[in-house]
Amino acid sequence: MTETPLLEVDDLVVEYDVRGFRRSPVRVLHGIALDVRRGETLGLVGESGSGKSTLGRAVLGLAPVTEGEIRFEGRAISGLGKRERRALSSDIQVVFQDPYTSLNPAMTVGDILAEPLAVGGVAKGEARQRVKDLLDAVHLPTDAAQRLPREFSGGQRQRVAIARALCREPKLIVCDEPVSALDLSTQARVLDLFVEIQERTGVAYLFVSHDLAVVRHIAHRVAVMYRGEIVELGDGDTVTSTPEHPYTQKLLLASPVPDPDAQATRRARRLEAASSGAGGAR
Ligand SMILES: Nc1ncnc2c1ncn2[C@@H]1O[C@H](COP(=O)(O)OP(=O)(O)OP(=O)(O)O)[C@@H](O)[C@H]1O
Ligand SMILES: [Mg+2]
Repeated sequence: MTETPLLEVDDLVVEYDVRGFRRSPVRVLHGIALDVRRGETLGLVGESGSGKSTLGRAVLGLAPVTEGEIRFEGRAISGLGKRERRALSSDIQVVFQDPYTSLNPAMTVGDILAEPLAVGGVAKGEARQRVKDLLDAVHLPTDAAQRLPREFSGGQRQRVAIARALCREPKLIVCDEPVSALDLSTQARVLDLFVEIQERTGVAYLFVSHDLAVVRHIAHRVAVMYRGEIVELGDGDTVTSTPEHPYTQKLLLASPVPDPDAQATRRARRLEAASSGAGGAR
């Protein structure tokens, strides 16, 4: 039995018009094809500028779809009108890298969380309880509701952003480098929170990161992007430990590992790879 994937991206092309003399648009994504299954984490790795965020933005309806199609639960969502798109926001949510710019600095955390609930038609009294439950779900104290975003640490702010993404009980969350701004131990705790929430709610993640170690930790399957294309897509462990594509191999060699012996072996292999001149990653 094959279930319809939650999200399907078919031959997606994204082009941006550029100002100035050059009239021809810039093609940022070429022929992207992937799917995200229910309850799954699909990791998306690649170097800076490879198009990871653009793909996430296309799924969110924030980047122009020039060719191809994006489907959610079997229904085409690329090219939806504003109203239909807004209706979809209960199903598809987002967590960005920098919760400072994505959370309204003038609103208390309680109001930040109550707003999407009100939009979703939840009555005030019930919303108060839901805010408490949401704070609990991301392991923040109940009194966090009275505080402003700037009164939290980076890791706590990201927990607020996650709570906000969870308000409407989405089926998919696009996570764009959600732990990249955090120090390593905070990263690990927030990643564990993502996993815990997924196990409890069955939400799927399209999880963007430039860091193979992060993706290895969280993703069931991994897609590797290089210059606007997907060069490899497969089982998370396989892609992050024995990748096939030379670009992914280089990315793997560049990703730090905590074990110094393994580190030394990697360094040796990196030298070897450098002398054989494969791929284009740094
Ligand atoms: N609005 C835009 N107009 C024109 N070009 C854009 C626009 N947004 C992104 N690009 C270009 O698309 C390419 C991919 O950008 P994108 O932000 O998707 O990369 P990324 O993989 O997320 O990189 P990073 O890891 O640095 O976040 C870049 O070359 C970028 O300059
Ligand atoms: Mg990006």
